Amino acid sequence: MAIRARRPLRSDAFLLLVLFLVSISCSTSEPQGFCAVGYESDCGLSSEKILIKGGTVVNAHRKEVADVYIEDGIVVSVRPNIKVGDHVKIIDATGKYVMPGGIDPHTHLEMEFMGTVTIDDFFTGQAAALAGGTTMHIDFVIPVNGNLSAGFESYMNKAKKAVMDYGFHMAITKWDEGVSKDMELMVNEHGINSFKFFMAYKGSLMIRDELLLQGLQKCKSLGAIAMVHAENGDAVAEGQKRMIDLGITGPEGHALSRPPVLEGEATARAIRLANFVNTPLYVVHVMSIDAMEEIAKARKAGQRVIGEPVASGLILDDSWLWHPDYTTAAKYVMSPPIRTSGHDKALQAALSTGVLQLVGTDHCAFNSTQKALGSEDFRKIPNGVNGIEERMHLIWDKMVESGQMTVTDYVRVTSTECAKVFNIYPRKGAILEGSDADIIILNPNASFKIAAASHHSRSDTNVYEGTKGKGKVEVTISQGRVVYEDGKLKVTPGSGRYIRMPPFGYLFDGIEKADAAYFASLNAPIQRTKSAA
Ligand code: URP
Ligand code: ZN
Ligand code: ZN
Repeated sequence: MAIRARRPLRSDAFLLLVLFLVSISCSTSEPQGFCAVGYESDCGLSSEKILIKGGTVVNAHRKEVADVYIEDGIVVSVRPNIKVGDHVKIIDATGKYVMPGGIDPHTHLEMEFMGTVTIDDFFTGQAAALAGGTTMHIDFVIPVNGNLSAGFESYMNKAKKAVMDYGFHMAITKWDEGVSKDMELMVNEHGINSFKFFMAYKGSLMIRDELLLQGLQKCKSLGAIAMVHAENGDAVAEGQKRMIDLGITGPEGHALSRPPVLEGEATARAIRLANFVNTPLYVVHVMSIDAMEEIAKARKAGQRVIGEPVASGLILDDSWLWHPDYTTAAKYVMSPPIRTSGHDKALQAALSTGVLQLVGTDHCAFNSTQKALGSEDFRKIPNGVNGIEERMHLIWDKMVESGQMTVTDYVRVTSTECAKVFNIYPRKGAILEGSDADIIILNPNASFKIAAASHHSRSDTNVYEGTKGKGKVEVTISQGRVVYEDGKLKVTPGSGRYIRMPPFGYLFDGIEKADAAYFASLNAPIQRTKSAA
């Protein structure tokens, strides 16, 4: 089954049609909008043998001109001049880059949030990802009434229509013995090795320091990474009230109510608490210089802190929030907010110098009808922007094409580092013998243009509308199958696999030695003799 790139997946009716077509047969007749693109089986599930010839194969550690031979979804060989027999699909990659598919560490597909549900589900969101060169993502499970197991079950159901590999982080929204026990279950039985704590969204997802401390300790004992949404939720609530009192009810009030200082404060607080517990910390969506500098300081002092900027923070500035058209302005509302010009460039520099380590999207798309929920009050605008389809192109253009970043570092920040942090490297994040065949071919001389009219998200808007750039993903291979080629997507609902991520990744190496040194340094308790009265 193939989907033309120029036909956005707009409605559930369209999705049902796709599912229906997959379930009835591998029909040879092609309804409007579908076409077979040269596969042995038009269901697209057959195992393929592929030889990618003559490209520059890029891993985070080196690049070389080589061929890549793929069989049964696995990279079999990477070396020059590989000879193959018949029945092998040959792709000429001369003059192009052959790179690991992108891994997006931060997405929200079909998430219930702020009185609505994100518009992209595990089908449309992942189809969009594949069209943009991302072959795996890690989504955030939101517990059901605080219950982790119920949340996990719900997300496994949502992901039944997955078309590519995915993993899960788990949010922690309340604390009791059941949650603590369920964290063990998630790590030991369900392949989750990271938990997110929201320090903002007062009254819904926000947790207090006491819970954060408990959570950090539990994460450490399980070898799981603690992640934080770092904004001071109490101060944000005050900032919002201040704006409403001033009569500022439009989207610009969103940015004004939660300035960078509140992100910096919460980032610093989370870093210090993680230091106190001596456990690694991962700061999601780093949007400001203030937060970035706290991370830089901690890393310089030797603390294990990972900083994740997102495409929107690296590319955009907040001027859009002042746009006179509400629909245009509202689409840029996300948290922490997109900042004033200058923060974007500082984040780019931090990414290129290793102060920040990997790039996500925080893909959390809402259409203009959903965004209209806050037309009278910016506090009701569902927070979130798109990016899952655009990240690989935007980062290439902004960082590599501009000369700010090497090609190997591009692979590191878009794929390899994510695989390492979440302990699935080198299965993912590399083109090595034995790695999963999740591969993209990028033509550095071709151009891209972003538009809601041609993107694959279900949303009717795109925060990068009209953006043009250099460097185009021309082929995406997922699980060893060509799923995007010649501008056409060929995806199969249900073919996506849940990727388990084991605990105690590299960030935990040596933590126990630091603990031992700390305990040895205490010089306590002192054995005292009781003095006679
Ligand atoms: O605005 C955002 N970031 N929406 C998604 C939820 C979150 O905070 O990650
Ligand atoms: Zn967040
Ligand atoms: Zn998010």
